[in-house]
Amino acid sequence: MTSIRKDDHIRLALQQSEENPASDFDRIRFVHRSIPINKDPISLHTAIAGLEMNFPFYINAMTGGSETAKKINAQLAQVAKATGLAMATGSLSAALKDPALEESYRIVRDTFEDGIIFANIGADRTLEDARKAVNILNANALQIHLNAPQEIVMPEGDREFHLWEKNISDIVKNVGVEVIVKEVGFGMSRQTVSHLIGLGVKTVDVSGRGGTNFIRIENARRPIALEYLDEWGLSTVESLIDCYALSDKVDVIASGGIRHPLDMAKAFALGAKAIGLSGTILSLVQSGGVKYAISVIENWKEELRMIMLMLGVSHIEEFGFCDLILDRTLISWCDQRRIPAQMFTLRNS
Ligand SMILES: Cc1cc2nc3c(=O)[nH]c(=O)nc-3n(C[C@H](O)[C@H](O)[C@H](O)COP(=O)(O)O)c2cc1C
Repeated sequence: MTSIRKDDHIRLALQQSEENPASDFDRIRFVHRSIPINKDPISLHTAIAGLEMNFPFYINAMTGGSETAKKINAQLAQVAKATGLAMATGSLSAALKDPALEESYRIVRDTFEDGIIFANIGADRTLEDARKAVNILNANALQIHLNAPQEIVMPEGDREFHLWEKNISDIVKNVGVEVIVKEVGFGMSRQTVSHLIGLGVKTVDVSGRGGTNFIRIENARRPIALEYLDEWGLSTVESLIDCYALSDKVDVIASGGIRHPLDMAKAFALGAKAIGLSGTILSLVQSGGVKYAISVIENWKEELRMIMLMLGVSHIEEFGFCDLILDRTLISWCDQRRIPAQMFTLRNS
């Protein structure tokens, strides 16, 4: 059942990535600088979850647990190895249920032996499961995903979430590697992130609405679709704006609908320390193959440096000094959430 579901997810996510929905990232502009001044040579280095990363974006959690998934994991790991990006596997829950499926995940570590690899489990999993997942991949960090809306719309999904808090807090304290708690495309409010900080979490991936949409994916698998729920959740931009005031207490990663280096730059300017990409990279690999994905990613590194040069930004954290212009929809979000928009728009006045 899990294997069939995983294959459905890949197929339906690929269909979605061919569409071109409106993005909240297009509601933001940088204020142009005519005389940009870089104080240092441009560096793409960042650090998250205690890990030093040469590049500030990575391949986010997708798959494992079936033959198709194994093939895709092998391709993604080849891309990660050739470009030096970190990479997460999809949820290891299939391998925890059936050890015969471990190989479809382990292929990632076998392909990229010295890479930064994240294991991934759901918040329904115990500390013991978390340890097993980390061991299967010899993982450098563990992602725990929060996906309540997906479970609820999924015909065979979970309906019990009361153990999530205890599992997260147990795992964060005892698993022995750094933990990233992530959404799966529904975003996080500052109330959620404060809640997670209270459980001991130090790194979150807000993974917001705007890219892969798991309510739509599960609706496509339901006999009767609940289409009116399709737009549930906070967008990635709304999540970053909401959580900005917490960036001194928690490292924030942005994912959900990141299409290119300009989206990345805007996410950094909204406080993200790193960027995760799933749907965009999956469709690169599926449409053009491994070599093509590698060349696009190498171009992205160069294009991100070009944007940094235009803005006079030498290090990723310096994006936080750039003035932004937000459109009325985002200003309304700020007003309703009692967030002073000047934090983003008048940083240099
Ligand atoms: C095919 C596919 C499978 C996914 N499986 C997982 C998963 O197992 N665990 C997880 O945490 N997130 C999973 N995700 C969610 C992504 O990690 C990410 O949070 C979400 O897709 C939003 O990013 P995107 O718009 O760049 O795709 C999956 C995404 C895709 C496209």
